[in-house]
Amino acid sequence: MNMKRMILAVLLAAAGCLARSLAVHGQTGAEAGAARNDCTLTYANFGKAFTEKYCLRCHTSSKHNWFTRRGAPKRVDFDTYEGIQKRSERVRALAAAAAKMPKGRPKPTEEERRQLGAWIACGLPQ
Ligand code: HEC
Repeated sequence: MNMKRMILAVLLAAAGCLARSLAVHGQTGAEAGAARNDCTLTYANFGKAFTEKYCLRCHTSSKHNWFTRRGAPKRVDFDTYEGIQKRSERVRALAAAAAKMPKGRPKPTEEERRQLGAWIACGLPQ
């Protein structure tokens, strides 16, 4: 290989790397989750604890009024598997693909949001 070709090859390889890393970092939590998804997360080992920690402060069926729910809409409750399943697309959009929920603290880490997206992408295994 002559020098010019060698330089070209190195440049192309570097461009490839850059493109790949942009592709990975540009993904939302949910997309990244689905892309390298082995579907090991379940309600039992992930979803239940996640919602308990980050959502039930407001979205729980045992709280009935606007104040104790801190404004969370009625019947948008995540204290059961069915409650999450029924709104999984919104849960994915607000808490995995974006960081719009939960309101307030504690907030999930990026990794936890990625896991949430992965769990939902797998069809919310129980
Ligand atoms: C501190 C209270 C609080 C916490 C914690 C909280 N939410 Fe909410 N949530 C709200 C309020 C207030 C609204 C209504 C206003 C709005 O949509 O911004 C809402 C609305 C929603 C809605 C319905 C609105 C829509 O656009 O579909 C969904 C779904 C939702 N939250 C998901 C979640 C999830 C998932 C979590 C946990 C990761 C969570 N929320 C944690 C307060 C909270």
